[in-house]
Amino acid sequence: MKKPPFILSIAGGGSTYTPGIVKSLMVRLTDFPIAEIRLYDIDSQRQDVIAPVVEKVIRDHSDNIKFTVTDDPETAFNGAHFVFAQMRVGQYAMREQDEKIPLRHGVVGQETCGPGGLAYGLRTILPMVELIDFVEKYSDNAWIVNYSNPAAIVAEGVRRLRPNAKVLNICDMPVAAMRNMAAVLGVDRHDLDVDYFGLNHFGWFSSIRVKGEEKLPQLREHIAKFGLLTEDAAQTDPQHSDPSWVKTWRNIQPLMDAFPEYIPNPYLQYYLMANDIVEHQDPEYTRANEVMDGREKRLFEAARVYKETGILPDAFHVGVHGAFIVDVACSLAFDLRQRHLVIVENKGAITGLPFDAMVEVPAYITAHGPEPIRIGDIPRFHQALLEQQLASEQLLVEATLEGSYEKALQAFTLNKTVPSVVHAKKILDDMIEENKAYWPELRKQYKNGK
Ligand code: G6P
Ligand code: MN
Repeated sequence: MKKPPFILSIAGGGSTYTPGIVKSLMVRLTDFPIAEIRLYDIDSQRQDVIAPVVEKVIRDHSDNIKFTVTDDPETAFNGAHFVFAQMRVGQYAMREQDEKIPLRHGVVGQETCGPGGLAYGLRTILPMVELIDFVEKYSDNAWIVNYSNPAAIVAEGVRRLRPNAKVLNICDMPVAAMRNMAAVLGVDRHDLDVDYFGLNHFGWFSSIRVKGEEKLPQLREHIAKFGLLTEDAAQTDPQHSDPSWVKTWRNIQPLMDAFPEYIPNPYLQYYLMANDIVEHQDPEYTRANEVMDGREKRLFEAARVYKETGILPDAFHVGVHGAFIVDVACSLAFDLRQRHLVIVENKGAITGLPFDAMVEVPAYITAHGPEPIRIGDIPRFHQALLEQQLASEQLLVEATLEGSYEKALQAFTLNKTVPSVVHAKKILDDMIEENKAYWPELRKQYKNGK
């Protein structure tokens, strides 16, 4: 086990999430002692805007922690013990394209689901592998705890290319859902003991227990009226309190009205209610615009005010997003064996899914990595949905690694958000144009009918 205090590097230091994550680290210094925090980003201009805000957050809690800001991988990872990764290849400008191109063709436009998520996957797999190689080269055998999206595809790409890398892929969506459930039940989210199965952004809670008592019936009653929304939504969940997120939490209600057995991950709305989602989306103003005009603008503005006045306005959230990654890091660092929902290789955990699928299930987080629980059989309906989504995501990874146009088209066609191969081809061809600076070249195997 590594000895604290730790050197922790944040890859994607210029992210809007960085101040919140660092704040979460600062309030947990007794659990997770830190000697140095390093911010690393290939966009040093952006990172330099955020860095003074991060430094202020650190100094409000400690004078001793060393703070380093760099765009040089060796400086970032040399001797590091932990790396938190949150890269966004193409930044919000490309997220906007991921969302708007499918919408132009009447298809769901979303960051990680549908064609947008597939496009984002094609951009991210190889840079993620490059990051892993830097960490392996320079660090002290560091664990990479990875939030980078699209997490399901990134996890599959990493499994194929770097099967032995010390990477733990995580997502805050299940834990955000648990936080809302806990608020409904009037308990702390750490009191919940859950069973969950699926892929990232594509899964279901099949049991929610508090002190051994099953709470699904009580949650079903609440969801039938309000969805997975609490009375004071903005306070329970400041991170997801924009109107589009409120709608997302509400949509758990129609999803469960149809299939009341389990509580779905909110992202299932994009696959199971695709028409409704497209109807209510403005093709000219998507979530990327909302984020750029909201979270990003507020933070940049706060950084400007802080630079000019020395006073830092309240401009970022410290919610489950930051708390969860620190929880996971603590369990890895000190072999706490806490049970968390993480993304792991199936290896038989979900009986009906392939052995090598990257699934999201509860696991005990030990110093040598996650030890997943056994889920066993799942119902035919859920298994079929998962198989289709898995095939779409795995073909996308193969398309990236082989540079195959046909496999990319198969991935798009198999995605449940895409109604036909005609839609799939139009969207893919538009995306190839927009992603020239990022995607590997996709070659056609059969040219001119041959
Ligand atoms: C959740 C998901 C993340 C996703 C984020 C998007 O937290 O788990 O994977 O990136 O939502 O939120 P945003 O506010 O950027 O739309
Ligand atoms: Mn996520």
